Amino acid sequence: MDGESLEYKNVEQEIKQLLETYQTPTVLQNVVDLLYEKFEHYSWVGIYFLKGNKLVLGPWRGIHATEHTIIPLGTGICSAAAKSGKTEIVNDVSKDTRYLSCFFSTRSEIVVPIKKKAVILGEIDIDSDKPAAFNINDAIFLEKVGDMLSQHI
Ligand code: SME
Repeated sequence: MDGESLEYKNVEQEIKQLLETYQTPTVLQNVVDLLYEKFEHYSWVGIYFLKGNKLVLGPWRGIHATEHTIIPLGTGICSAAAKSGKTEIVNDVSKDTRYLSCFFSTRSEIVVPIKKKAVILGEIDIDSDKPAAFNINDAIFLEKVGDMLSQHI
């Protein structure tokens, strides 16, 4: 296992322990904090909950607050992931017409749906100040985190 995979595996274990130990909703904030602190390329981390036809921001961590605390389904990369149920990785947000801008510094973004069976409950949204910051390892790791979180939403 290479160093990068090991780090994802270690954080996965830490998240598993947090979820086994603490109660919702505090634990969701704890997981967001851990993701933000452990990975340098995660510049802003948030969880959106799917409520009817909109996404509502829950726990988040980053330097700035986003004005997009409620996203009507149909706009943004967040909506695309919520509708398709598939992870979205955008290497260059300036080239994606769907992108809803939150922070001037953001260069790339990953959005991972949180699903229970086929039902979409919400998603993990991560912005990075680095271009093309996210790869398949982030997707695999965050999809596992999403599965773990689905038991606590
Ligand atoms: N950029 C997202 C909106 C949420 S902010 O990144 C926090 C989008 O395009 O849906």
